[in-house]
Amino acid sequence: MLLFCGEDPKSPHGFPAGLRYSSAVAALGGHIEGSQAVPDRRIWLDGELVPWHAATVHVLSHSLQRGSLVFDYMSVKDTHRGPAIFRLDDHVTRLLRSAELVGLPLERSAEELTAAIVSTVRANPGSTAVKISAFLPSIEIDVVPVDDLVSVAIAAYHPGRDIAAYKPSRVDRRDVLRIWVEKCVRNRRSDIVPPQAKVAANYVSPMLAKWRARKNGYDEILLVDEEGYVAEGPTTNVFIVGSDGALQTPSTENVLPGVTRSTILEIARRDGLTVRETQVRPEELMAAREVFLTGTTAGVWPVVSVDDQAIGDGSPGITSQQLRSRFQEVVSGADSEFLHWLTFVNPA
Ligand SMILES: Cc1ncc(COP(=O)(O)O)c(C=O)c1O
Repeated sequence: MLLFCGEDPKSPHGFPAGLRYSSAVAALGGHIEGSQAVPDRRIWLDGELVPWHAATVHVLSHSLQRGSLVFDYMSVKDTHRGPAIFRLDDHVTRLLRSAELVGLPLERSAEELTAAIVSTVRANPGSTAVKISAFLPSIEIDVVPVDDLVSVAIAAYHPGRDIAAYKPSRVDRRDVLRIWVEKCVRNRRSDIVPPQAKVAANYVSPMLAKWRARKNGYDEILLVDEEGYVAEGPTTNVFIVGSDGALQTPSTENVLPGVTRSTILEIARRDGLTVRETQVRPEELMAAREVFLTGTTAGVWPVVSVDDQAIGDGSPGITSQQLRSRFQEVVSGADSEFLHWLTFVNPA
């Protein structure tokens, strides 16, 4: 079997010729600031809404140099009552937990952050996503910052229109995935950086592994934990559907507690499916009737092959498809039982 460890990752991006980027921005309704092209959006930075291009930090800032930024990422959905943020409270709670796990003294309450997110979404119509970041902007010498003041930035935007569309080259999102299980990088370990923290530093080894896999023709990877059990993707959780129709997903011991993961677990239980939160061996993926990934961007994302072996008949299975449409119903406010997960942005 091919092991990709140790290969040289080559950047697949071919980053931008400024001119092409600028003209694309202009065509899409953004504007040019100096030589920079920027979307017409405002970012909440420590209490003030500033233009997109002004939300910057120094290149020597602690968070950039040491990877100490924590963040969370949530979706804004279209509903019959206008835009609504999905499971806002859970995302804010997870951000505060990430800060705590990494030791960032983030001195803002959940209520303050929640109100700031809602006002940022209101100030940026057409947004479909929110990224909130807490970071150390101070220029530091040591790993432990002398100035530990934590800044907060909240960006509400449309990832496709405000970011991806301006790239001269892009990786198109596929409807179904061919997966590679990364066997060498076992970084989902609580004795290094806890996997439950959404901290920038945790994304470097998945980046390296995914670059390698992409070069070898795979769409996505799955990471394993210290003992070799399947953990999660770089930005997704994983589920399998066994031969008895039961759902199985790794417990949150060695993975990020995904909001979509918990949403799917609740929907599945409510719809009468059996669910198990327990270790998954790589061989169980291959033997599964269905495999799918979950995440804020992905929703429910069917996997059609793992390490070149077809899952089921090699097309999305019935349970994945059903859960995908149930998820759509819930996030769009069509299922009254889950309306409490939606924070409507505009007053009724
Ligand atoms: C490591 C990791 N696992 C899982 C997920 C999925 O989490 P959620 O469903 O909250 O988006 C993410 C989200 O980005 C992630 O970064």
